[in-house]
Amino acid sequence: MRNPVVERAPAKINLDLRILAREPDGYHSLVTTFQALELHDVLEAAPADEFSLEIDGVVDVGPADDNLVLRAARAYRDAVRRAPHVRFRLDKRIPAGAGLGGGSSDAAAALRAMNALAGDALPQEALRELGASIGSDVPFFLCGAARAHARGRGELLVPLPSPDSAEVVLVDPGFSISTRAAFGWWDEADAARPVSFADAAEPGAEASTLAELGRLGRNDFEPVVFARHPELPLIRRWLLEGGATHALLSGSGSCVYGIFAERASAAAAARALREAAPLTHVLQTRTAR
Ligand code: C5P
Repeated sequence: MRNPVVERAPAKINLDLRILAREPDGYHSLVTTFQALELHDVLEAAPADEFSLEIDGVVDVGPADDNLVLRAARAYRDAVRRAPHVRFRLDKRIPAGAGLGGGSSDAAAALRAMNALAGDALPQEALRELGASIGSDVPFFLCGAARAHARGRGELLVPLPSPDSAEVVLVDPGFSISTRAAFGWWDEADAARPVSFADAAEPGAEASTLAELGRLGRNDFEPVVFARHPELPLIRRWLLEGGATHALLSGSGSCVYGIFAERASAAAAARALREAAPLTHVLQTRTAR
């Protein structure tokens, strides 16, 4: 590739995630707090005669044709006809189908790269709107903040300061969970209750440090996802017993994360988990700032 644009595509965890309601169009309104991680994919983009995507790296994400990178790039070119076709190369490190936002982050990186190659033809607001049409987590990855509160489907964003950082141990149980299926499980559980259990309570708007968010945070997917995958609450318990200050399912899963104050205790917990659960894939990273 000649002079490619290179974009980092970070992973995210949800420090808090509350589902408010199923909307008439089938989507769900929610409130969440996103936190970007240092773990990232790398996307290279160079002008070419046609769109193509080559995927390398340690994570298998299936056929390139179905990848959100190409979907995002084609959507961008539909909006900006003078944008070039692009040859992409993706170095994939973020586990897929794990609630870590990897596909959405790659799509956001593709939109940033397309915009750079098209001379910033789209203003940030229009880029975020385009991103929201590709995936609910894409606007967060375009907003440039390492930590943010989000509402709606995730597109109404308020960046938060992120002066503090911490060690994160990610446990990918070795299977993926479909976000669509997880929302369906939540609908079933909600419909079975006499009164909708959606509750708008959220960590106070003033909660912005990792310690506060960890103390107040919960994930509304946990009851319905844990009921179907009993190994996940076990993993969360191991993380807490291993010294995590808090541990939670990320997004709709399947990944469970633990936050640690010290690098050494995170490394020890990661080691113990690899031994106790050899089928899982355990990664150690940090929150981004
Ligand atoms: O937006 P994304 O492509 O990540 O969503 C995958 C699926 O999850 C959607 O097709 C929809 O069924 C469900 N979803 C939802 N409410 C949201 C986000 C996603 O019901 N806020």
